[in-house]
Amino acid sequence: MKNKSDKIIFFDTTLRDGEQSPGATMNMQEKFRIAGQLAKMKVDVIEAGFPVASAGDFDCVKNIADNIRGVQIAGLARANKNDIDTAWNALKNGENPRIHTFLATSDIHLQHKLKMNRDQVLELAVASVKHAAGYTSNVEFSAEDATRSDLDFVCKVFTAVIDAGATTLNFPDTTGYAMPDEFGAQISYLMNNIPNIHKAVLSVHCHNDLGLAVANSLAAIKAGARQVETTINGIGERAGNTAMEEIVMGLKTRSDVHKVVTDIVTEQLHPTSRMVSTITGMMVQPNKAIVGANAFAHESGIHQDGILKERTTYEIMNPCDVGLTAGSLVLGKHSGRHALKDRIATLGHEPLTDDELQKVFTRFKALADVKKDIFDEDIEAILMDIVFAIPETYKLISLGAMSGNKAMPVTGVKLSIDGVEREGAAIGVGPIDAAFKTIAQITNTTSKLLYFAVSSITGGTDAQGEVMVRLQQDDKIIMGQGADPDIITAAAKAYINGLNRAAYMKNKHKK
Ligand code: KIV
Ligand code: ZN
Repeated sequence: MKNKSDKIIFFDTTLRDGEQSPGATMNMQEKFRIAGQLAKMKVDVIEAGFPVASAGDFDCVKNIADNIRGVQIAGLARANKNDIDTAWNALKNGENPRIHTFLATSDIHLQHKLKMNRDQVLELAVASVKHAAGYTSNVEFSAEDATRSDLDFVCKVFTAVIDAGATTLNFPDTTGYAMPDEFGAQISYLMNNIPNIHKAVLSVHCHNDLGLAVANSLAAIKAGARQVETTINGIGERAGNTAMEEIVMGLKTRSDVHKVVTDIVTEQLHPTSRMVSTITGMMVQPNKAIVGANAFAHESGIHQDGILKERTTYEIMNPCDVGLTAGSLVLGKHSGRHALKDRIATLGHEPLTDDELQKVFTRFKALADVKKDIFDEDIEAILMDIVFAIPETYKLISLGAMSGNKAMPVTGVKLSIDGVEREGAAIGVGPIDAAFKTIAQITNTTSKLLYFAVSSITGGTDAQGEVMVRLQQDDKIIMGQGADPDIITAAAKAYINGLNRAAYMKNKHKK
């Protein structure tokens, strides 16, 4: 192995490849919050977006590069001057900014997509890397669809782009096609057949089409890759990307096998996962490794008995190491403003303004009246609703529903629409269907409901229900979320949140 360092570089692409998950579009403020959280977790590189893709993407990357410190910020660019120039304009004020340029190397892509031969691809890759290296010494080159490419051709391209100034070479399994043994062998082959590989870091970027992204990335690390590209919760194009939390904990828990180190603050894994799922509306499946609700839940009596006797009988990781605070009672009806303020700070949020704190406190008191114990997750949900909310074109004033196994479900809703009150009522298959129909009627909007999920934020029958919806309006997919102890109200809030996001995006594009 020619690459000696034991440190694994974490390149997080939640804001770029992760955002390519259908419906996971994030606004500038949301991307900025996630970037701040990733920096706190000490990832090494944040891929903040694809600046040439849209003016919005450019602004998001620029905002992150201009303001987030202590982490390298990368921007994606196809292998052409305009993409690279645009990426650099967005990145240039960042700390050690990285231009990430890519070009496909597989014959399938060359023939059908690029309509170029191998010599042309080689020439363009070198010219693009040289152009990027004119701006910064931090240049990453990705050979798109590398795992289905002729490996000798990839070696040739990588050797040439290192000479042209690339300092990171990324070997993506773009279609999620590779098998772990094969992928590890491909990485070994590159390590042994690129004469100047010691001048660069070899990276991998795996997709999860066959459910092997994490296994493939770990195999690559064993074979000498020293950068791994990941997303939080494994979100991303199609079946997603390598899940950061799984790689981090795999490396930590089995350090006896991997013998590498990372800088990741593992206690931030759970808060980051929750932030990404609430912002994107991509819920984490309960049995998801590391961050799923059941990841540390022991159901069987034999297991519970073992855990009580000695935690390590059935737990290979300590839940505290991944930042799991669920179940910790924090506040109640008698807690005051100070306790709430302290708790918000402990959860890692920036101090709120007096006005924000007052609004959060009022909501907290209202919740504490109907729900005895207030958990961290409840506070996060209130913050999401009040402090991190997007501008509200539509505001829920009141909702009343009637349903039952013998009654015709009917829901009445009163909304404020740009300050003007409107109300209506409709019948539906159930009270939530009736609420959605009423809201569509009085807002005069048509959206197709693609996805609806309800879960409880914490345990107990008095828990807040959290609803996520995904709506389609024309060709746009928008997510919405809402939380409330009453699930019909939570569902209505989620639907209205989706409409507000759609209105916000439309207004932004008009400007
Ligand atoms: O999957 C892929 O090949 C990519 C590249 C742009 C790195 O996302
Ligand atoms: Zn990808």
